[in-house]
Amino acid sequence: MSITSTIRLTLLATVCMALGGCSETGDAYIANIDPNPYPPADGPGEAMDPDEIQSARRIAAIIEAHLTNMYPNGQIRRDAHPKSTGCVDATFTVNNDIPAALRVGIFAEPGRSYRAVIRFSNSNEDPTRPDRDPDGRGMAIKLFDLQPNQVPMTADPLAALSPRADMPFVAPDNMTLAGSPSQDFIMISHPVFAAADAVGYRKLVGNTDSTSPLAAIVRPFVALEGLGISGIKNAMAITSLKIDNPLYQRYWSMVPYRLGTGPSAIATKFSVLPVVTPAEAAPDPADPEFLRHAMVRTLAKQEAKFVFAIQPRTETTLPVEDPRVDWPESVAPFHNVATITVPTQNFNTAPRNTACELLSYSPWHALPEHRPLGAVNRMRKVIYETISGFRRAKEAAAK
Ligand code: HEM
Repeated sequence: MSITSTIRLTLLATVCMALGGCSETGDAYIANIDPNPYPPADGPGEAMDPDEIQSARRIAAIIEAHLTNMYPNGQIRRDAHPKSTGCVDATFTVNNDIPAALRVGIFAEPGRSYRAVIRFSNSNEDPTRPDRDPDGRGMAIKLFDLQPNQVPMTADPLAALSPRADMPFVAPDNMTLAGSPSQDFIMISHPVFAAADAVGYRKLVGNTDSTSPLAAIVRPFVALEGLGISGIKNAMAITSLKIDNPLYQRYWSMVPYRLGTGPSAIATKFSVLPVVTPAEAAPDPADPEFLRHAMVRTLAKQEAKFVFAIQPRTETTLPVEDPRVDWPESVAPFHNVATITVPTQNFNTAPRNTACELLSYSPWHALPEHRPLGAVNRMRKVIYETISGFRRAKEAAAK
């Protein structure tokens, strides 16, 4: 359950209780959620809480219950970021002048290019929410063309479905590559996250699901305990952003990733910055899809460019386990390592939009050199695999 939906549910839960009680404990689903193999906490700066694995399993069960209630019929959408504003083709090229110390994994070879599909999205759990409403904005990059020695730790579950014979080819259409091994980089339009770890996040969603009358009274305090003041502040900041065009926005990984393997591996975060942010006509607030339409207009006439930058952790005081805490750029500067080019194109076609919805992104679709780090990332492995698989199984059963 996304932070946006969780905070809203926390506030609305009192109303639910008055209407007879909300009971999304996830009990009906938890038995089927196998957290094994759960990622070990053996990367730079990592440490695991003894309750983490059980909390991650419980959160996945609660999300399954929540989605089942939300979508009693038909297609189950992603729990977080269900509204895509477009899936675009792009090229991801490693900079020729990338610092030698950062030439690892995807970035090993200066000048190398990867084909990519980027999904832009809004965070809120309601896929019909108009673009004018404040929200977190997502950018999820999927890189293809990995070499045979570049094997991601987990594969895109869509592999079994691809290439899709029922999907008409739309040139240039990278969507049929969706079954190939990929390296995904997932970002949101804010540098820091709201929850420190699985245990805190579970406190938040677990309390929302309680049917005890006492729960309504203590709920705000438990939310505070789950996120802390800094987490609540971050949650408000993440969800209050209004933008005119996703192509001219900055995005951050929020949570850390390893760079390298073995004893020389370091912790890093990453960010994507637009190269230019031209002054554009203000969007039409009456159009609920104005972000998609702004991207269509831009890419009909010109390409968009971003730089991909890596932020190495320069001090052990910069936390790996608590993504509510910023790594200040004055202490840990970003280094530009790659250039993303989104060429002119018409991405807004029915087959492409259908194919876009079928893609699965996960921080764990990653080479070992870019392994996700920290509690929030470790739990995302169980949660994204479970929820993406659950949505696909429901879809297959409905056919
Ligand atoms: C409490 C921790 C988190 C939980 C429970 C969570 C949960 C989820 C779920 C269930 C999905 C949909 C997966 C699917 O059905 O395919 C999702 C998608 C997504 N999440 Fe998270 N997430 C968490 C943390 C984060 C963080 C730290 C980021 C920061 C970058 C993030 C960014 C995204 C984005 C951008 C998507 C959409 C990606 C796409 O286009 O497919 N999430 N999240």
